[in-house]
Amino acid sequence: MELSPAEFGSVRKAVHDLCGLAIGEDKQYLVKTRLEPVLIGNGLASYAALVQRLLQADSLLLKDQVIEAITTNETSFNRDGHPFEELRRRILPELAARLIERRKAGIIAGYTTAPQSRIWCAAVATGQEAYSVGMGLADFLRNRPARDATPDLTPADFPILASDISGHTLAVAQAGRYTPAEVDRGVTADQRTRYFRQASGAWEIDPAIRGQVEFRRLNLTRELPQLGMFDLILCRNLLIYFDQPTRERLCQALSAALLPQGILIIGAAESLFGVSTDLVRETLGQTVVYRKR
Ligand SMILES: C[S@@+](CC[C@H](N)C(=O)[O-])C[C@H]1O[C@@H](n2cnc3c(N)ncnc32)[C@H](O)[C@@H]1O
Repeated sequence: MELSPAEFGSVRKAVHDLCGLAIGEDKQYLVKTRLEPVLIGNGLASYAALVQRLLQADSLLLKDQVIEAITTNETSFNRDGHPFEELRRRILPELAARLIERRKAGIIAGYTTAPQSRIWCAAVATGQEAYSVGMGLADFLRNRPARDATPDLTPADFPILASDISGHTLAVAQAGRYTPAEVDRGVTADQRTRYFRQASGAWEIDPAIRGQVEFRRLNLTRELPQLGMFDLILCRNLLIYFDQPTRERLCQALSAALLPQGILIIGAAESLFGVSTDLVRETLGQTVVYRKR
C-alpha cells in the first residue's frame, strides 16, 4: 500500500500522540511493515484513512492495534548482566538497610500499612525484567549473612509493580511461561533449577516469584495515576524510542515517584544527558544509575 510523504508525516504524528514513539524521518519501511497488516485487518484503504480513524473517539481497539504493532518488545532475562549483578551486590542491600531504618524510626513514608521497599519495572515488556529482579531478590535474601538477617525481611517486603503500554506483552508476562530459547537467553543454570519448573515443553516461573509481581497497563506518556512511592525504578530501553521533550517529561514523572535516595536504572545504552531532572548520575561498577536527591 502506498505511503505518501504527507501520510508518513501524519502517521508519525499520530503514533507520537498515542505512545510517545518518535519515528525517524527515514523509517517509512518501519511504518509500512508494522502497520500495513493493521490497515488490511481493518479494511482501511489508505494510511490517510487510518489516521482519520485514529482521530475518532471510538477507535480504542484500533489504537491498541497500532500500539501493539509499532512498539518493540525486545527483552531478555538479566538483560546486560551487570545491572542485575549490582542489584544483588549493592542496590538490594541498600534498599534492605533503608527499609530496616525506616521501620526502626517508625516513619511511614507514603505508606498506609507497614513500610515496604517498592520496586517498579516501568516498561516490562514480556516480564523477563520483573522476574529477573524477583530472582535477584530471592538470591539476595537467601544469601544475607546471618548478622544482617535480623530483622527478617521477606520478598513480600519488596513488592514489584510491572507495567507496560502493551496488553499483549503484559498477558505473556502475567502467564510467566517462557520457551526454552527465552530461558536460555540470560537465566543462569542455578536460577533455572531454583526458580523455574518445566510444564508442557515450556518453563514456568516459580509461582512465589510471580505472585510478588503486580501487573498493570500504563502509558508512560500520559499523566500517571497515583502509584505511591518507590525505592527503585527500572525504565530500561524505552527512552531511546522517545524524543528529548518526551524523555524529559517521563524522567521527571519517574523522579517524582521516587523516595529520597531512590534509584532509577535506565538501559545500558541509554543516558539522561541533556535531560533536566533532580536525579544525580552515579556509577556502580559498570552500571550507571540515577539517584533522587
Ligand atoms: C524494548 S522493550 C524494553 C523491555 C525491558 N525494559 C528491557 O529493557 O528489556 C520497550 C517496552 O516499552 C513499552 N512501551 C513503549 N511505549 C510505551 C509507553 N508510552 N508507555 C509504556 N510502555 C511503553 C513497549 O511496549 C515495550 O514492551
